[in-house]
Amino acid sequence: GIELGKLLAQTGYITYDPGFVNTGATASAITYIDGEQGILRYRGYPIEQLAQHSTFIEVSYLLIYGELPTKQQLEDFTSKISRHTLLHEDLKRFFDGFPRDAHPMPVLSSAVAALSTFYQDSLDPSDISNVELSTIRLLAKVPTIAAYAYKKSIGQPFLYPDNSLGLVENFLRMTFGLPAEPYEIDPTMAKALDLLFILHADHEQNCSTSTVRLVGSSEANLFASISAGIMALFGPLHGGANSAVLEMLEGIKADGGDVDAFVNRVKNKEKGVRLMGFGHRVYKNYDPRAKIIKQTADEILSKIEGGDELLDIAKRLEERALSDDYFIERKLYPNVDFYTGLIYRAMGFPTQFFTVLFALGRLPGWIAHWREMMSDPATKIGRPRQIYTGEKERDYKPLSER
Ligand code: ACO
Repeated sequence: GIELGKLLAQTGYITYDPGFVNTGATASAITYIDGEQGILRYRGYPIEQLAQHSTFIEVSYLLIYGELPTKQQLEDFTSKISRHTLLHEDLKRFFDGFPRDAHPMPVLSSAVAALSTFYQDSLDPSDISNVELSTIRLLAKVPTIAAYAYKKSIGQPFLYPDNSLGLVENFLRMTFGLPAEPYEIDPTMAKALDLLFILHADHEQNCSTSTVRLVGSSEANLFASISAGIMALFGPLHGGANSAVLEMLEGIKADGGDVDAFVNRVKNKEKGVRLMGFGHRVYKNYDPRAKIIKQTADEILSKIEGGDELLDIAKRLEERALSDDYFIERKLYPNVDFYTGLIYRAMGFPTQFFTVLFALGRLPGWIAHWREMMSDPATKIGRPRQIYTGEKERDYKPLSER
């Protein structure tokens, strides 16, 4: 493939492939997807096995370093991360500059970009010890930044990280805890969030990961590249879909729970109306992550008194869509985000914050791809070509003649 690409470039041919539906931008050994069969593997390990037996921190190690860690490696990795969770005190003031009702995604992206101003000693992409340090700093500090963005939005004081806790537990405490009160971590909630992070941890060359790679290909530092990836994830067709699903379900509920009426609006292609959380560029069968998540949604939501009306709407919507020719013909199935919003909501996160949770999960994947690209001798600066469709050459007319 690579040799053929080089050959074509010499002949002057340009492939025209809007949305890169069929363009391989890189070779990668991180994640394998078979969209027809609904298979997802990280470094060769099936997602179902990782979901059942592993932890988010272990999966992060696996994605970044290529192998499951030994006990010692996992301990070292975990302890390094827990020693870097604090933010520079001046960075805390950064959050004051945004309006109280700011969406947390641009706040997160800006704060991650700002890491390259506060931690200038780890920016050199060609120095592996710099890359290691930036990797640990990101994994450790992004959850703290995310929790602070939330605290700022509800007007509560920031909580310093408690490094005796695990990554997910620490994040939950910083998000939902109060300084004067002990915060009791609900183990079911921590486990469910850890699982959701595992399921989001990588998905090969999706929009945000491709963004991280493209920005990084100019040798921009890791913080800058991840900050750009966070903004790519913000879009409603990508990470923003988890919030959009919940808004959609709430809209259906407000209309009396009429699933048929909504499906008809989708099928009539009413402007801006899509069945959010359905469809995927690569999966043309069931999204394997959605299968695992649906089970978790059942377990978590059944614990909430009276069950959940939105879950019922979601299930009816799924059933209705899966038996409808419009969705069958187009191979549209629930994707990872169809059920995640319901779980996040049950955990107490506000809708706007859902996409931040996606970013926390996807972080190790972005880092793994950036590092893989940087260490690959075949890497060149990303620079797509185009098919020019504008005016042919014409002569400049002075203003008085136009
Ligand atoms: N609802 C209704 N129709 C849809 C949907 C949907 N969710 N998704 C695709 N279609 C239809 C399109 O209208 C199109 O029909 P047409 O041929 O009659 O015009 C056909 O299916 C193909 O759709 P495309 O937009 O060409 O598919 P593409 O691969 O470009 O898009 C995407 C994939 C963006 C995920 C799309 O399915 C979508 O918008 N889904 C809703 C948003 C969403 O859930 N995004 C999350 C993706 S997963 C993730 O980021 C974690």
